[in-house]
Amino acid sequence: MHCGKRMLYEKPQALTPPRTDVVMMTPWLAPIVWNGTYNIDILNAQFQLRGVRIGLAMFAIKKYVVFLQQFIETAEKFFMVGHKVNYYILTDRVEEVHQYNFKLGEGRQLFTLQSPTYKRWQDICFRRMEMIRNYTRDRFINEVDYLAVADIDMQFSDDVGVESLSELFGTIHPGFYNLSRQSFTYERRAESRAYIPPDEGDFYYAAGYFGGTTEEIYKLTNYCHNGIMADRKKNIEALWHEESHLNKYFIYYKPTKLLSPEYLWDNRMGIPGFLKRRRFVAVPKNHNEIRNKRSIKEKQRASKNAKH
Ligand code: UDP
Ligand code: GAL
Ligand code: MN
Repeated sequence: MHCGKRMLYEKPQALTPPRTDVVMMTPWLAPIVWNGTYNIDILNAQFQLRGVRIGLAMFAIKKYVVFLQQFIETAEKFFMVGHKVNYYILTDRVEEVHQYNFKLGEGRQLFTLQSPTYKRWQDICFRRMEMIRNYTRDRFINEVDYLAVADIDMQFSDDVGVESLSELFGTIHPGFYNLSRQSFTYERRAESRAYIPPDEGDFYYAAGYFGGTTEEIYKLTNYCHNGIMADRKKNIEALWHEESHLNKYFIYYKPTKLLSPEYLWDNRMGIPGFLKRRRFVAVPKNHNEIRNKRSIKEKQRASKNAKH
């Protein structure tokens, strides 16, 4: 039987690795995706054969709506081009998001979903796990096969395609790819459900980009949200919020694919030689200005006025 189209490409080698400057496989045999280690034509054909549907969820709460336009416009150029894509924007400003009239490619749709907002930016980050869990259970599971969850203060600047998809995938944080366990910013207080002992841990994963099948994302977000709620009862907050819980999850439920820092880069780290592509890159922001209701300048002005 002949399935799919005939394809011509160079034979893979058994004894010559395509790259020798980076590690391409974890000890549990999950590939680590780097440029030059895969053939995207083979992958595209395989995923197209299955008619795969991909969701991309991101939060635009309060002032973070300012990042939306650049995010979507660059995603249209680089994210899963040629495949079926649903964008899910979770926001407390549905009306404002509706004002944008994004021109989307064929097979691509955008949905604006209501999300609660929280006073503290930390809670906005924590609650992403709960919101993704609920929307995955109630909706995403019926609409897409894979779901990726991303920070919105980012832009795509090179291809993020189906090579990145797997049952459960995490991204190696750009600040920690070559550091020891002791340097990882895991939660180290035993009282927290995100606690990781000093002699455990594989990589430090970034919460800014992860994904998997909707079933796996449900399990992951449910686990993290339950841990976050248990911590709340004990009045403890993990060091890096939902990222700490994500890192805990990935130790015991190992990702089936890892994305190299090509998939989440921050230009403040420079451009090391092994980094052949920067696919998804942090947009610089002023943390105080963007996260708080009132900017620092506004606060200074207010306190000055109060004195007069
Ligand atoms: N976020 C938001 N509104 C906020 C704070 C955070 O929408 O007021 C969302 C947004 O999607 C953001 C993500 O939560 O990308 C994580 O927060 P942030 O990017 O500020 O964390 P960082 O990458 O700086 O650690
Ligand atoms: C920072 C990043 C944070 C968090 C932290 C972990 O560079 O902005 O979101 O990931 O690293 O130590
Ligand atoms: Mn971010």
